[in-house]
Parts: sequence; C-alpha cells; structure tokens
Amino acid sequence: MSAFSQHPEAEHIVVHISDTHLLAGNAKLFGSIDSEGPLALLLERLVASGLPVDALVFTGDLADRGEEDAYVRLRSLVEPWAKKLGAQVLWVMGNHDDREPFSSVLMGAPATTAPQDAVYWAGGLRIIVLDSSVPGFHHGELTKDQLAWLASELDTPANKGTLLALHHPPIPTPIRVDGADRAGESSCPGRGDSRNGCPGNSCRTPALLYVFDLCRSANFCRGCSVLQH
Ligand SMILES: [Fe+2]
Repeated sequence: MSAFSQHPEAEHIVVHISDTHLLAGNAKLFGSIDSEGPLALLLERLVASGLPVDALVFTGDLADRGEEDAYVRLRSLVEPWAKKLGAQVLWVMGNHDDREPFSSVLMGAPATTAPQDAVYWAGGLRIIVLDSSVPGFHHGELTKDQLAWLASELDTPANKGTLLALHHPPIPTPIRVDGADRAGESSCPGRGDSRNGCPGNSCRTPALLYVFDLCRSANFCRGCSVLQH
C-alpha cells in the first residue's frame, strides 16, 4: 500500500540556527545565560544523529555585542563539528552583529563595513545570504543595490531551488515595532524585550515564537504567538 501522505526523502538537509548571542571571553549573557554550552551540545547531538547535513545556517545575532572575540569563539566552536558533519557553515549578519569583525573573523576577508551578502551552493540547491542589518540600528532593511544584486543572482536558475537566509523577516508581521512599518527588532525576540511580547531570555527566534498563517489573505500575514498554544 502506498503511503500517499509521505513526502519523498529529503535531497538536502539544511540546519537553521539563530541568535547565538555569544560574548567575548565566554561571558554569560545577561550575567547568567550560557550561550556556548547549549550550542556545543546541539552540534554534538547533530553529529550523533548521523544525518547527512549539507549546511549549517546561522541567521544572525551571532555575537551579542559584535565583539571580535565572540566571533573567534563562535568559529572555533562550530567549525570542528561542521567538519565532522561534512557541512558548510553559512554566517548571516544580524542587528547585534558588527560587519567589520564579522567579515574579518567569520568570512576570512579584509574587514569591511559593506553588506555581507553571499551565495552558496549545495549541489543544485542555492542558498543566498542577505545582510539585512542597518549599522547603528536594530531594524532591518535591504537596500536597492542589494535587491538589484539579488535579482541578478536569481536570474541564474537553481535546479533544486533557492533558499534566502536573513535575520529580519522579509514579510510584514502584525507586531508593531517602535511605530515603524519596516522589518524590525520585534522580529528578533532574542533581546527579550517587552516591546515584542517576549517574556524574557527564554525566547530566541521568531520561528519559536510566532506562527504565520500565509493563507489568511493575499497581502496580510496573520501571526499568533506559539506561547498561546
Ligand atoms: Fe536581532
């Protein structure tokens, strides 16, 4: 009997991790939260799973204060596990990150304040990393130049499709942020900020907090808090 409800076996496995918020010297986040230990445990369990992971995608707020040592620590923590997995590591900028140490430490490039956009391939699957950070601010934006670059990249077909990886949600949310209608820090509950309805430090990513019902209407994204379920 056929299993009609089963999807075909995955051709690619991409692991999405976000908001690691590491601090220099392995300092505790908010004075009490261990940012490195749980991440190491996660990666250890991932390796133990034996899953054929193509890529680890870290979507921003990698360092809580953009400190160079935090990026050094993150890279040294993640890369050995990624090597065991045989997985690429994709770093994405978030509003807590700083482009100069991000580019020099994580990307192994000359330090720059330029947007850290990049394209990666895992077989026929393309993953495009977009830097939605706005230096000095917490909200997110993509400039016209970035969007033009993205359009030109998408002109090249990817036979297994394309994933876009960015820190700030690119679609509207029903959560108001500082009166602004742009992608904002409300989309980043990692701050544990009461403005975004996050009760505190237990919240890390919008994927853990909100459910978006994309079928509600053509132009409105209806969300609700997972915490209410
Ligand atoms: Fe953020």
